[in-house]
Amino acid sequence: MSLRIALAPGDGIGPEIMEATLMVLHEMGVGQHVTFVPVEMGKAVFDRGESRGMTEAACRTVEECGLVLKGPMETPKGGGGKSINVSLRKMYGAFANLRHFRTLPGVETVYSRAGVNVNFYIVRENIEDTYGGIEHRLTNDVIECKRLISAPGCDQVSRFAFETARASGITKVHCGHKANIMKMTDGLFLERFRVIGQDYREIEIADVIVDALCMNLVIRPQQYQMIVLPNLQGDIVSDLAAGLVGGLGFAPSANIGQQVSIFEAVHGTAPDIAGKGIANPTSLLLSSLMMLRHIGLLKQAAMLENAMLATLESGVRTGDFGNPAKEPVGTAAFAKAIISHLGKAPSSVSPVPVPEQDVPTFVRQARPLNNPMLRTFTQVVNRVVGCDVYIDATHGPTEIATILGSLAEPSPFRLTMISNRGTQVWPTGSVYTECVDYYRVRFELKPGMAEKVLGQAPAIALLGRIAERFFVTDFQVLREFDGRPGYSLAQGQ
Ligand code: NAI
Repeated sequence: MSLRIALAPGDGIGPEIMEATLMVLHEMGVGQHVTFVPVEMGKAVFDRGESRGMTEAACRTVEECGLVLKGPMETPKGGGGKSINVSLRKMYGAFANLRHFRTLPGVETVYSRAGVNVNFYIVRENIEDTYGGIEHRLTNDVIECKRLISAPGCDQVSRFAFETARASGITKVHCGHKANIMKMTDGLFLERFRVIGQDYREIEIADVIVDALCMNLVIRPQQYQMIVLPNLQGDIVSDLAAGLVGGLGFAPSANIGQQVSIFEAVHGTAPDIAGKGIANPTSLLLSSLMMLRHIGLLKQAAMLENAMLATLESGVRTGDFGNPAKEPVGTAAFAKAIISHLGKAPSSVSPVPVPEQDVPTFVRQARPLNNPMLRTFTQVVNRVVGCDVYIDATHGPTEIATILGSLAEPSPFRLTMISNRGTQVWPTGSVYTECVDYYRVRFELKPGMAEKVLGQAPAIALLGRIAERFFVTDFQVLREFDGRPGYSLAQGQ
């Protein structure tokens, strides 16, 4: 039976590069195994007032197929319209974003000119982090964005990375992070990377702080084979990496999930050249190549890869890259050039071995009856040890301490710390620390209460008393998990 793949051509240059991609796939006989099912997504749907940018029928088709090939889509600026790319990844749990960055023949960069061969993968966590989009205005002057990192989310992305590394013969995987500053969130990402890495003893693991990683990538990109990163850092480092190999036009992207995987071009809709027939389809072609591998059409994927390498090597180019002395061709002609190279191999770089496997191995999973619940830690003992109360106030720290210290007297807690923007300003601190209208006030168990087992009720009762004097913007019960504090210290505490 033929595999069904949801097909969303996209906006701007999307339909042009999709047509070129389908022309190549058709010529390779992919249609014997695959049926593309068109779905409505993008600008036209947004314009009809549907804030998701996709129709209900499109959502159902994506759920049925479990595979999506998509072109770039215009995201409305401001207003309520959310990026379809981000919505698709999050709604369908496409937790890992895999991108391959490598020097391509015929694509000249400062590195290719210097004889530096770039060839590495980035695996970016795709759902969590600040991309949860959980934002609140807390006071006149302060807005927060919640950054969620979960242990199962970390596990999924690290396991996918190591599995991909194993299948691709990668011998060393780095974790990029900022765990020196965000000790708990990035700390968890790094810790789970190390734990999962133990299951892949043949692969060396290492970690690198993300700012140093950026510098290293520019200075010596050839030292990396695969880098795993949290979402926002991965987003930024991916574009840096694209710059090393000639730009976004050469960076394919696969969003892999348990149920649904999405293959897309990473560049945008290029409105400046839309409709002119001159767009470069390479990114979408390389993404469809990743899709062929994902569904098990390994022979076709290798043939397409060799044909693309041979085409680029021959100097065929669209106007956005390549040797300016050579006349550029349009999108359709570029696709035809690839078709004419099918069955050929590049000579300046090693051709990809062509395996025998030429029928799909992808098995569509049964539709879940309920939202799957992911869990990593199930046997943790936790206990309440205090609370952080956040208030909207412009008083000085000492005045706040005097009022709130006495409000805590009847409770099992005592005031231990006040911070502003994460820096301690009471009981010690510097009068030079500039403050804004948003304080965190920390209460911890009084001496002698340490062994008591409390629920969250005493903390809530204290919160109620504070709310009579100050506007409480948010509140956090402090807990220990297996004896380890589940909260960070303030700067200077
Ligand atoms: P863009 O990637 O569309 O364009 C940046 C520059 O690169 C332009 O000069 C464009 O002509 C060129 N370019 C991009 N792709 C090309 C290709 N395949 N061939 C030749 N030249 C190419 O980025 P921009 O201008 O920031 O965004 C335009 C629109 O695309 C926005 O509405 C944005 O929301 C959307 N967008 C969608 C994405 C997606 O669906 N994955 C990703 C990024 C942006």
